[in-house]
Amino acid sequence: MNRLTGRVALVTGGARGIGEAVVRAFADEGASVMITDVLDEAGRALQEETGTATRFCVADVTSESAWASAVAETERTFGPVSLLVNNAGIVEFGSIEETDPAVFRRVLDINLFGPWLGMRAVAPSMRRAGDGVILNVSSTAGLMGYASLGAYVASKWGLRGLTKAAALDLASDNIRVCSIHPGPISTPMTAGMDDSITVSQPIPRFGTPQEVARMAVFLAADATYSTGSEFVIDGGATTGSMILNSEQD
Ligand SMILES: NC(=O)c1ccc[n+]([C@@H]2O[C@H](COP(=O)([O-])OP(=O)(O)OC[C@H]3O[C@@H](n4cnc5c(N)ncnc54)[C@H](O)[C@@H]3O)[C@@H](O)[C@H]2O)c1
Repeated sequence: MNRLTGRVALVTGGARGIGEAVVRAFADEGASVMITDVLDEAGRALQEETGTATRFCVADVTSESAWASAVAETERTFGPVSLLVNNAGIVEFGSIEETDPAVFRRVLDINLFGPWLGMRAVAPSMRRAGDGVILNVSSTAGLMGYASLGAYVASKWGLRGLTKAAALDLASDNIRVCSIHPGPISTPMTAGMDDSITVSQPIPRFGTPQEVARMAVFLAADATYSTGSEFVIDGGATTGSMILNSEQD
């Protein structure tokens, strides 16, 4: 229960879904956590429920000034940031031709430019802390392609690559940077999707936000020999195809 005692974390998109589960898990492990999100009401409610170990501030990940304020407020409240979870993200569906250019840009802005701004903003704070861990929440869409998800796929592949560049840039400051690649997870983002998308997985169900949060705790606390690496949590979705086996039945 004390694997993150003394750590100061900032979790983007922390008001709900995977981010909320990470906030709860980090706080349970003894970390102080700044929750950031654009969802004011949900963020405040989570902060009130989780108590003195957490604070909330409204911050849009695409805004450089919002990042500067969030990091400054975290330092003032808890001390230098030593854990960053770049979790905030959006999904938009549409083929290459159907997708409006403004939508493509918006997805990249939130899912890729946002984490880049975040890493820039926290790096000096992590230097003051003496070390740090940055976890970038990519997706299985950062490991393979999906039809009608071009903008999302591009953003998540970009974040996977950015993770490796950042791991190299920040290594000499004792900052590890890893990417997390969830498959289908039950959150508000996937609320409209049914179980059919998981039937061909070796583990044929949606994952839970808590399962992703447990991986985040492991990466933050225990994965001390890993940086620049990809950590997949997808019920085996990217392992391979099970279709041939089903046909033999
Ligand atoms: N749910 C899944 O199946 C799944 C799978 C793979 C990857 N992911 C990734 O996990 C992350 C979390 O997803 P989730 O399923 O919890 O989604 P969600 O929609 O439930 O939560 C995302 C959070 O990000 C916040 N957010 C959106 N835009 C923001 C912005 N500009 N600034 C700050 N906050 C913003 C939202 O308000 C929300 O609280 C995302 O990056 C998503 O792409 C999710």
